[in-house]
Amino acid sequence: MKNIQLFIPKFRKEEILEHISLCLDKGWTGLGFKTVEIETLWKEYTSLPHAHFINSNTSGLHLAFKILKDANKWSDGDEIITSPLTFVSSNHAIMYENLKPVFADVDEFLCLDPKSIESKITKKTKAILFIGIGGNTGQLNEVIELAKKHKLKVILDAAHMAGTFIKNPVTGESEHVGHRVDVSVFSFQAVKNLPTADSGMICFANEDYDILVRKLSWLGIDKDTYQRTNDKGSYKWEYELVDVGYKYHGNSIMASMAIVGLKYLEEDNKRRREICSKYEKILTQNDIKVVSTHKDCIVSSRHLFQIVVNDRNKFMELLNSAGVYPGVHYRDNTNYKMYNEFFGQCPNSHQVSEKLISLPLHMGLTNEDVDYVIEQVVRINKIIEG
Ligand SMILES: Cc1ncc(COP(=O)(O)O)c(C=O)c1O
Repeated sequence: MKNIQLFIPKFRKEEILEHISLCLDKGWTGLGFKTVEIETLWKEYTSLPHAHFINSNTSGLHLAFKILKDANKWSDGDEIITSPLTFVSSNHAIMYENLKPVFADVDEFLCLDPKSIESKITKKTKAILFIGIGGNTGQLNEVIELAKKHKLKVILDAAHMAGTFIKNPVTGESEHVGHRVDVSVFSFQAVKNLPTADSGMICFANEDYDILVRKLSWLGIDKDTYQRTNDKGSYKWEYELVDVGYKYHGNSIMASMAIVGLKYLEEDNKRRREICSKYEKILTQNDIKVVSTHKDCIVSSRHLFQIVVNDRNKFMELLNSAGVYPGVHYRDNTNYKMYNEFFGQCPNSHQVSEKLISLPLHMGLTNEDVDYVIEQVVRINKIIEG
C-alpha cells in the first residue's frame, strides 16, 4: 500500500551535524555565532538590507506589529486589514498587540484582493497584512500601490515565501520578495521550504527597526551576550534595558540547520516547481481546477500545490484509501469561535476554503509518486464529478 504524505522535510544530516559540531566545540549554541552567519547569508541571497534570525515566524509577526505600532503611535483597536484564509499565527500577531483584524476577501490566487482591501479601509486602518499563500505573490504589487495611496504600512507574512521572486514594477526586474514592503517575516519551521525545527527571519526596510528588533527579541537588552563576549576578548557584564522585550531570538543550532537549508533552497525549490508543473499540466488537461501563480510571481517557492474540488471530504477520503494523504490550507478563520463575529464578510474566502486540497509536495517524492498522485486525483475526480 502506498503512503504518500503531504510534507516530509529533507535534512542534509551530515552537513548539518558539521555545523552543529562547530557550535559544540566552540561552546556556543545560543544567539550569536551561527545566527550571525545565517543572517549574512540570507541578506546575500535575498539582497534585503536587514535580516534578524528569530525563533519563529509567529514571534516575528508579533514584533513587526509591536514595533510599527509603537513607532507610529497606533492606538489599541486600530485596524489591520488581513485575510481569513491563513494559518492562525498571522491574525494572532495582530491580536497580541491589541489591534483589530479586519478581514478582506481573497482573489483567485488565495491572496488578498486589492478591491476588497480598498472597500475595508476606514479612518482607523493602519496597515495591511499580506499573506503569500503557498509562495504565491498574488497581487502584492497592486496592494503595495494601494497602501502607498492610503498611507498604510505593509507587513508581509512570507512564511511560505523563501525563494519567491517577484517582478519589480519600476525596474521590471525580478527580485526576492520583501523589498518593497515595510517588513517581511519568513518561516523556517520544519515543513517549510527552508526547514529547521523552528525558526524564521524578520526583515525590516528601516534600519532603526532592525536595530530595535534585535533588542526586543532578546528581552529588551541592548547588547547580546555574544557581542559582549567578543567586544574586547573578555566578557562584559554591563548592559542597558530599553523595553519589555521577549525571548524570541534564534539560536546557533537552528541557524546551523538553516545555513544548510539555504544552501539547497534553490535546488529544492526547482524540484518543487518541476513537480508542480507536472501536477498543473495534467490536472488542468483533465478539467481539475488548480490554484495557479500570478504573472508577477516570476519564481514561486511553490510551498503548496492546491486544487479546488467540489466534495472535499469525499475526495480526501478516497485519496486516503489510495494511500495519498493531502492537507488543507486553510480553514476560513471566521469559522473559528474567536472570529465568528466576522463570519460571512468574505464570501470568496469562505467558499474556496471549503474546497481546497493541498497535494503532496516535498523532496522525498519520486517521479513515480507524482504520477501516482496525479492518476489518483484524476480517477477520483471522475468518480465524484461523473
Ligand atoms: C501562513 C503562515 N503564517 C505563519 C506561520 C507561522 O510560522 P511559524 O511556525 O514559523 O511560527 C505559518 C506556519 O505554518 C504559516 O503557514
